[in-house]
Amino acid sequence: MPISIIRNDITKVECDAIVNAADPTLLGGGGVDGAIHKAAGPGLLLECMKLGGCRVGRAKLTKAYDLSCRYVIHTVGPKWQGGQNGERELLESCYRESLRIAVEYNCESVAFPLISGGVYGYPKDQALRIAVDTIASFLIDHDMLIYIVIYDKSAFQISEKLFSGITAYIDDTYVDAHFIYNRFRRAYPSEGNALAEPQTVTDFKACELQAPMCSSMAAPKAASLADMVSQMDESFSQMLLRKIDEKGMTDVECYKKANVDRKLFSKIRGDVSYRPSKTTAIAFAIALELSLEETKDMLMKAGFALSHSNKFDIIIEYFITNENYNIFEINEALFAFDQSLLGVGR
Ligand code: APR
Repeated sequence: MPISIIRNDITKVECDAIVNAADPTLLGGGGVDGAIHKAAGPGLLLECMKLGGCRVGRAKLTKAYDLSCRYVIHTVGPKWQGGQNGERELLESCYRESLRIAVEYNCESVAFPLISGGVYGYPKDQALRIAVDTIASFLIDHDMLIYIVIYDKSAFQISEKLFSGITAYIDDTYVDAHFIYNRFRRAYPSEGNALAEPQTVTDFKACELQAPMCSSMAAPKAASLADMVSQMDESFSQMLLRKIDEKGMTDVECYKKANVDRKLFSKIRGDVSYRPSKTTAIAFAIALELSLEETKDMLMKAGFALSHSNKFDIIIEYFITNENYNIFEINEALFAFDQSLLGVGR
């Protein structure tokens, strides 16, 4: 099952276990630790007092008391000391140990805060990378729904290089769109005036595209409806399964790489005319490492297109043209730009 980055208070997340970014005494503190103890009530502290603390990079489990989840897994992240003191290994260990315990207690869903990303001072973009990479490699061999919970959106950071690359790409693409629109207005002032401001640039492009389609659609009068239906194109589901074979992937490799839930994949596999959501269709295009043209083709089969009139589509295009098919990195970027994420269970 997949990783979902969500914005929430971890004490409110519906799941089997939430993870606490604790300190070595396990006796409570501020930040997420304070919020969890407050929401769980005094029983949690009483149980924690019996645990004898916890070492950095390790984890211990308690009941959840007044929280709606079943368990709290307490882990102690490393304090940031410049990065040369084993911080990375210790932080990875926090995620691995917490997940090992979650498996031991049959948890199907777990929510993590950004461990060490607050008082302990770990640079947030690096803390997030480690969280996502460690969880993603755990998910290769396990089925679990894992939430990374971001409490304060301003505390969420993707790498500066990625952020500025995407911002520049969005700016350039919007500039292109405006340029086409303005040229059209200058060439055809009366039609141009009928268009609303820039988002309709794609409407204008669509008009251009639709004109030849309309004439060719009118031509084959002789073909009966039955003939046309019998010559129907390959469906989304058929294209997906064909591409999986062509790429030499297994189904499991594909849906995991797409950050898609196993049940959803089975539904798509079993229903030749399944219509996925746009985010699911793109998730599979990414997992299959399709080119931009192939991605557009696959999307069309699900009834969607990529345009330059919204950020979501431009961000997807940015990653595909840069041949970066890491779905988790794409989701981090989408989250940073307040867009819907790819995959999961829709
Ligand atoms: N839900 C989700 N995330 C939260 C919440 C909440 N209710 N409250 C805070 N956070 C986020 C912070 O924004 C930060 O990104 O959790 C992340 C981790 O921050 P801290 O709680 O400060 O944890 P950490 O950096 O690991 O420091 C641990 O802080 O509270 C003490 O006892 C704790 O000494 C320990 C230290």
